[in-house]
Amino acid sequence: MRITDTSDLWWKTAVVYCLDVETFFDSDGDGVGDLAGLSQRVDYLAELGVTCLWLMPFYPTPNRDDGYDVTDLYAVDPRLGTLGDLVELLRTCRDRGIRVIADLVVNHTSDQHPWFRAARLSKQSPYRDFYVWRADPPPDTSDQVVFPDQERSIWQLDEGTGEWYLHHFYQHQPDLNVANPRVRDEIAKAMGFWLQLGLSGFRVDAVPFLLDTTGVPDEERRHFADPHAYLRALRSFLGRRAGDAILLGEVNLPHEEQAAFFGGQDGNELTMLFDFITMQRLYLALARADAGPLAAALTERPAVNPDSHWATFVRNHDELTLDKLTEAERQEVFAAFGPEPRMQLYGRGLKRRLPPMLGGDPQRIRMAYSLLFSLPGTPVLYYGEEIGMGEDLDAEGRNAVRTPMQWTAHEDGGFSTAPLSRLAVRPVVGRYGPAHVNAAAQRRDPTSLWNFVAMLAQRYRECPELGWGDLTVLDQPHPQVLAHRCSWSDGTVVALHNLGAEPVTVPLELGEQEPGTRLIDLLQPGDTVVDNGGGAELTLKGYGYRWLRLDRRGDRQLP
Ligand code: GLC
Repeated sequence: MRITDTSDLWWKTAVVYCLDVETFFDSDGDGVGDLAGLSQRVDYLAELGVTCLWLMPFYPTPNRDDGYDVTDLYAVDPRLGTLGDLVELLRTCRDRGIRVIADLVVNHTSDQHPWFRAARLSKQSPYRDFYVWRADPPPDTSDQVVFPDQERSIWQLDEGTGEWYLHHFYQHQPDLNVANPRVRDEIAKAMGFWLQLGLSGFRVDAVPFLLDTTGVPDEERRHFADPHAYLRALRSFLGRRAGDAILLGEVNLPHEEQAAFFGGQDGNELTMLFDFITMQRLYLALARADAGPLAAALTERPAVNPDSHWATFVRNHDELTLDKLTEAERQEVFAAFGPEPRMQLYGRGLKRRLPPMLGGDPQRIRMAYSLLFSLPGTPVLYYGEEIGMGEDLDAEGRNAVRTPMQWTAHEDGGFSTAPLSRLAVRPVVGRYGPAHVNAAAQRRDPTSLWNFVAMLAQRYRECPELGWGDLTVLDQPHPQVLAHRCSWSDGTVVALHNLGAEPVTVPLELGEQEPGTRLIDLLQPGDTVVDNGGGAELTLKGYGYRWLRLDRRGDRQLP
């Protein structure tokens, strides 16, 4: 084992934190969070143990899709600050050991982007072919829209030129035509720009849609026969411009289809993929108090190149999608965690954050985060998770989980000095509002969720086996328990999670061990002797969790 490899392939042991600058911290009192405000909070992130910050889109935007509708790929939304403010942030993050990646939104632009405005002026426009058009009326595509509450078709008539343009997302987000080499040049140039400024890579939005060539004329498609060759080209380009930069892709597909987006065993496409399947199976497992679905998801993951890696999460900025569960499974999760229609979205997801879904039970919430950090994969936190923020069910759609970060007990969470009525986004009220859930109080309270998450981040960083090791789900008799082992080189970490409310005693078989081998608790004081045959018995309380390092004589890890 070479510990130095962990700084080389840094993403395999990173702690990623996602935030939207707009809702994080407002430094100038105009009611909108800004880059200068975020810089002010970099130490907070460093203290929590964050090593990679993922910035949601900060580009100029009409903001009709929370910034995922971009009008300029080379600039900063003036409401958030300037390019100068961004560089100051990047410098400060680097000083605190935090890399920064940003959303790369190039499946589509805003319909206000100068390219689209030019494209729709005339069929002869040099930008016409930046987008995808059709002259004949489209068939019914209502089953292909991403936002069924708003859209009926993936084609929208452009009155001016009498043709339809493609948009998989909202109709104000026309899809770019990546079969067009000029579009590909523009995408690479934009990436090069941000890498030059100091970004360490990108969270690539909607990758399967980006590679999709629906509606592209046959002639053009012939020159773009293999969209994955394009993804490989982007990855090579990234590597040439910034050797340690990553592409973290949004690819919500079944595991076997995800493999292709890593570039299979070659690992030459996306560096990391969010594991949407394991996330959905985790919720099913929690709902059933049965670790089976989660264990199955983990062991069914396709084998990937050792440089590639999964990103694990329990929440992101979108609906908590359950689209890859069966209808019956989805209904089980809805029944357990979001039974009311106002808690659900698009018929496939939930509007809620984890703590309210788990009834605010501190033990169960901690067990879920303990799982997140101990599963093989890089944990990605969505801002506010570290303090257990809740959602605003009265907010429209996905905005329910896009409320201002709660810094202090003040009504507005100390997010801004602007009057409440001037805030761009309304803070959460009630049981999960700032008076009860805020960072300032939790940082000072050693028993808080914040301190627990900070400890998990620290232990996870100290256990590179979790990121690098081979996973084994250990046999034991309790269906509600997940017992897994990650072994890498000469190190082994075992984690136990009880998804059920009742205490259990878990017998483990760890294989033949040297006399004197112990299991050292990593989250609490104590250790357990392993007998010569490799057997050990461990107790877990209801919703209990334990991380244990197999301590053998001669190990180089500090126990
Ligand atoms: C991704 C983003 C989502 C956005 C969509 C369109 O799915 O996560 O927030 O609405 O892409 O850009």
